[in-house]
Amino acid sequence: MATSESRRSFMGFAFGTVAAVGGAFSLVAMKKTWDPLPSVKAAGVTTVDLSGMKEGELRTIEWRKKPIFILKKDADMAKDSKRDVVVGDVAYTVVIGLCTHLGCIPAYAPSEKLFKCACHGGEFDTSGKNVFGPPPRPLDIPPFRIEGTKLVLGEEGPEYKKMMEEA
Ligand code: FES
Repeated sequence: MATSESRRSFMGFAFGTVAAVGGAFSLVAMKKTWDPLPSVKAAGVTTVDLSGMKEGELRTIEWRKKPIFILKKDADMAKDSKRDVVVGDVAYTVVIGLCTHLGCIPAYAPSEKLFKCACHGGEFDTSGKNVFGPPPRPLDIPPFRIEGTKLVLGEEGPEYKKMMEEA
């Protein structure tokens, strides 16, 4: 017959074992969280072929759950040697479409050639530079690499590095 002492030590052993096993599972679960899955790594890079875009066309794509504005500049749009992404001899504006004030998504108004933020009236020109209202800085440029006529978002190519050095 088991004494209350031996019952207590058995309970302690059983609890300790459950806790240890539980702890091991937690560690495995945490390790899985630390290691990005291959699909997640691949999802961080998005390739866009710019060759079909028309002059003045704006394309919005999603990269890492953020909107990215790609604007193919037309002849009337001011060039910006520090911010333009030049592919061949064509200048593009490539920016993260989140207002640098509080993160709303600005809308492009082609007739005014402005990105307008409805939240507090901020405005950005066709190079993504803040020209009116509370935004404190231009729209951010995502890391990119140029590969022929393609834009690879999520990788830092020499053009992006040079741009960041000069910023
Ligand atoms: S969030 Fe765009 S102006 Fe405030």
